[in-house]
Amino acid sequence: MKAQNCRIDILNDRAAACALIADEVEDRVRFGAVLGLATGASPLPLYAEWTRRHREQGLSFRSVTSFNLDEYEGLGRGDPDSFQSFMDRELFSKVNIGRTLVPPGLYRDPEEAAKGYERQIKGSGGIEWQLLGIGRSGHIGFNEPGSARDSRTRRVELAPETREDAVATFGGLDRVPTHAMTMGIGTILEAKRIVLIGWGTEKAALVRRALDGPITEDFPASFLQLHPSVRVVLAEVEGAW
Ligand code: F6R
Repeated sequence: MKAQNCRIDILNDRAAACALIADEVEDRVRFGAVLGLATGASPLPLYAEWTRRHREQGLSFRSVTSFNLDEYEGLGRGDPDSFQSFMDRELFSKVNIGRTLVPPGLYRDPEEAAKGYERQIKGSGGIEWQLLGIGRSGHIGFNEPGSARDSRTRRVELAPETREDAVATFGGLDRVPTHAMTMGIGTILEAKRIVLIGWGTEKAALVRRALDGPITEDFPASFLQLHPSVRVVLAEVEGAW
């Protein structure tokens, strides 16, 4: 990856890493930017840091609009394992965020639902700052191997390793949804600024492959090499890589 496109910070611990990220995005939060958000383990310490700044420093999220990356098919607010519920629990109920959107998981017509989400992103003026984690399959959002560079929000089938990684959450592989709705690679690459995070050795290896490996649909995170403004923040976990 061309160095001018990408800044990489490697911190000793997740809290320090998330303080750095919260600093970078603080003015955007204050002035009411459109943020793209992620679920999963990686963003949790950032959401904790945002919550702390909101409570202790009065950081206001009132003018922020957020768009989440993805949602499991068949799940919505009524299900504790939906990404909507995750976001409600971990962030939306803890800060005074203005407007929050999560892709629909309950739909009759996936194409219409996907188009509706794209329209909402466009209507907001587009995503200014996008937070990303990376999955074992090389996915960003739920853009699994085979996802095209110009893909948009759509219904996708989850890769086997992605479903395996969700077994603990759902309590059995047969309970993990097989499909999801995700922003596309093209949708993600339209964000003005992208911050990719990863904690520990496994994530560091995935990030390295994304940034230094060939740009290919086989490892969709590699398309981040095509973006003009990516920041990568990595950290050690419990003092060891
Ligand atoms: C979540 C998402 C995924 C995760 C990735 C890493 O909204 O889009 O791409 O960021 O699967 O998940 P964790 O952070 O749980 O390892």
